[in-house]
Amino acid sequence: MKAPIAESLLTYAGLGIAPMHTPGHKGGRGAHPLLRSFLTETGLRADVSLSAELDDLHAPTGCIRAAEELAAEAYGADTAYFMINGTTGAVHTMLMAALAPGDTVLVPRNAHRSIVGGLILVGARPVYMRPETDERLGIAMGVSLAEVRRAVSEHPEARAGLFVYPTYYGVANELPKIADFLHERNMLVLTDAAHGAHFAFSDALPPSAMQAGADLSAESTHKTLGSLTQTSMLLARGGRVSAERIRAASGILQSTSPNEILLASLDAARLQMAEEGGARLGAAARDAEALRARINKLPGLRSFGAESMGAPGRAALDPLKVTVSVAGLGLSGFAAEEELRRENIACELSDARNVLFLLSYADGARETGRIAAALKRMAARRSGAAGAEDAVPGLSEMPPLPRVMRTPREAYFARHERVPAARAAGRTAAETIVFYPPGIPVLAPGDAVDTAALSYLREMKAAGAHVVGAADVSLETILVTAEG
Ligand SMILES: Cc1ncc(COP(=O)(O)O)c(C=O)c1O
Repeated sequence: MKAPIAESLLTYAGLGIAPMHTPGHKGGRGAHPLLRSFLTETGLRADVSLSAELDDLHAPTGCIRAAEELAAEAYGADTAYFMINGTTGAVHTMLMAALAPGDTVLVPRNAHRSIVGGLILVGARPVYMRPETDERLGIAMGVSLAEVRRAVSEHPEARAGLFVYPTYYGVANELPKIADFLHERNMLVLTDAAHGAHFAFSDALPPSAMQAGADLSAESTHKTLGSLTQTSMLLARGGRVSAERIRAASGILQSTSPNEILLASLDAARLQMAEEGGARLGAAARDAEALRARINKLPGLRSFGAESMGAPGRAALDPLKVTVSVAGLGLSGFAAEEELRRENIACELSDARNVLFLLSYADGARETGRIAAALKRMAARRSGAAGAEDAVPGLSEMPPLPRVMRTPREAYFARHERVPAARAAGRTAAETIVFYPPGIPVLAPGDAVDTAALSYLREMKAAGAHVVGAADVSLETILVTAEG
């Protein structure tokens, strides 16, 4: 029930110290009025870093160490590391600590770009695993145990398996079984739990990455809990990756002037969960389920729930992620998102067929009621749209996973050239090209460009699919590594 960093920082801000140190605004005295309009006077006085009382993020012995120990305890981890460069920073630190250049690592094909960035930093060799997909919803689910077994049988040399747990849509795969399987083979289990930082605090949610057996987990405290944007935690358990190695990687990748208010926000978010996490998350989960039930009564709308789980790659669902398929109204998710925005409701994301509402412990019946009312109006405006679902593109069969010719790092540092797509077969991709749906890259840096990938690109483009990642969105040219 303590918050060591937040408490030390408040004490420091109240001491009336003459700040002959950074930052240059000097406790707010010199702050521009625009900056002052965002922060309180205490907040500006607390904007300090590098003071003995406030500890050192890179070699903590005082309040940061105490706060990290409390966080580790709350998450059932051995150690927790506070991160100030988002979950991107946590993912990079995780990969830099666990892997070495040339190591093979099993990676879901629909990994977030922070993972590709981490692979470029480390120089590891990815072996891609295909996530399950849901044809009707048009979204990727998790990677199944069967797919992990396939990848391991083809690559028994792999040092680690990396998993997005849960997916952006809140789908948790069968991680506990996968972790046992990989540990029996002496492999590490790493998780990008950007969307699972709240799981540890309520039985109404899937098991947390630590409970499921991950060795290291990057958790976005700022996405689903109450810390400030840009803050995350890296959790470690089991001793398979040394604490010194993690601290060293964090020291390379993170600022030497961490913002203490960001660190205090991590501390406060953990305290908040310790105080009332179970009750608030449980209540929010009940409200989310009630919202789902209301949505599923509206003609043309559907929100999948626990009934869609229990299959490979989809063991459990975070009820707080409410995905609503709007295709039955003859609408794309993108159009529905814009329509909702005009009603002053901002979604977490949209894709070709769905919009996603992210609820948190901070939401309740008032917020879910507002969503339900807006969706009801949306459905009423399109009464008679029954059967319109076919007008919204679904999923086409994706080509087989391509061969990896070069590591993402080699592809990143190689000379590049842009070639007409029609002449790209046989070359090595130097960029990522993804369609939403299903959000699974057709090409990633280092992949062999083959004719199957090229014809899929042509088909999806002709169908008007939403392309992301490619520098030339017309897909007439593709960035490849230069020959010779
Ligand atoms: C699955 C996943 N991993 C990692 C990240 C990176 O997190 P951050 O934005 O905190 O750097 C995101 C962000 O959206 C994400 O969705």
